[in-house]
Amino acid sequence: MAQFLISGGVALHGTVAVSGAKNAALPMMAAALLADGPVRLENVPDLGDVRTMTLVLKGLGLEASRQADGALVIETVDPSPVRAACDLVGRMRAGFCVLGPLLARRGRAEVPLPGGCAIGERPIDLHVAGLAALGAEVRIDQGYVVARAGRLRGAEVRLLGPRGPTVTGTANVLSAAVLAEGETTITGAAAEPEIADLGRLLVAMGARIDGLGTPVIRVQGVRRLAGASHRIIPDRIEGATLLLAAAATQGEITVAGVVPQDLAAVLEKLSAAGCDVQVEGDRVTVAARDRLRPLEVAALPFPGVPSDVQAQVTAVLALAQGHSTVRDCVFPSRFAHVAELNRLGACIEHRDGAALITGVDRLTGAVVTATDLRASAALVLAGLAAAGQTVIRAIEHLDRGYERLDEKLRSLGARIKRRSSPTASRPG
Ligand code: EPU
Repeated sequence: MAQFLISGGVALHGTVAVSGAKNAALPMMAAALLADGPVRLENVPDLGDVRTMTLVLKGLGLEASRQADGALVIETVDPSPVRAACDLVGRMRAGFCVLGPLLARRGRAEVPLPGGCAIGERPIDLHVAGLAALGAEVRIDQGYVVARAGRLRGAEVRLLGPRGPTVTGTANVLSAAVLAEGETTITGAAAEPEIADLGRLLVAMGARIDGLGTPVIRVQGVRRLAGASHRIIPDRIEGATLLLAAAATQGEITVAGVVPQDLAAVLEKLSAAGCDVQVEGDRVTVAARDRLRPLEVAALPFPGVPSDVQAQVTAVLALAQGHSTVRDCVFPSRFAHVAELNRLGACIEHRDGAALITGVDRLTGAVVTATDLRASAALVLAGLAAAGQTVIRAIEHLDRGYERLDEKLRSLGARIKRRSSPTASRPG
């Protein structure tokens, strides 16, 4: 088990480049199942979930290799497998993104039900209903979703769930509809930039898609898709996390190579809290000179504040003036980080799908444990702000979704280092 050791209380300053978007790369890697030729993806981040997806695809007869220039080239070498490995998809929910493309290209798909995780229940009813609407026969059999179809048929597909659209559900249905016969209209589609970017890859492969980035996506099915090259968009969640480190430490950080409008909701909140926010082309600078003002924040589907940034915002508001509230309308139980933040001296109550925060003057380092990917990032931000030393255990969670985050933070002046956990488990 890896750990981070952080000596906090240092204001961070400098410029850092963000990596490619994890949540765009993963469905794009799955979409390579659709192509009759090699798919070349540029700007793919080197992180745990990408390595896991590579193994999932290998088990389905695809070879993924990193080129000398860093690009990831994925090609089908054996088109016969239809069953995804249980242990891998159980480890990473995004593995479920192979369902749609595998079904559309090979006529059958057997994919393990994705595991739940610390952020709450992870249903798949919208994925199943969406593929059934395209003419697939879908059933659950011994923990696997088993789908089969001749050629899928275009249809009206409604993907709006009780808490908004489904991101990977849209990826699965979109990646199936592109090979269906006739027109598909997806209403209640996810408008997230990562799904729009997946759509741009599919169009480069020969798909016919309109409405990307809106709640209504129209697809004209085609018979086959070719290989293609595509550069993945920057990771807006990593960008937001790094900018929030400026707010957490009362420093000044510039992130380079971002798409500022993908960060708009977060930048608005940072500005409302009293930060100085500057946007210049693909660079965004956040400077925090005074203690933040309190905020009311609701994590929502795009273009709202992303659920994937909710934990990090909660951590930063722990040190703000007065009383703040952070609600997660996408994953109401995504608050495992609250107990760990309170171990650092925060004063946060988790009630009714929200974090009720009473700002404190200071946080104090302690031994804390990461529970999930974005909770890990929240603990890093809190540790950077806390006086004294913080040890964050189980940092494997963070390595799933951030590429060299400790190195990036050190380049900004953070005193953070990685170590394997000492054999004797520490008290507390
Ligand atoms: N939902 C349903 N039925 C379904 C699918 C989803 O009711 O069939 C509900 C969920 O319970 C949730 C809401 O719809 O309340 C949104 O869930 P969604 O399906 O969009 O989540 P996801 O596709 O499983 C992706 C990201 C998550 C991110 C969410 C929300 C990937 C690989 N993962 O998950 O990323 O939090 O969208 O934006 O794209 C992360 O990166 O840390 C992360 C968890």
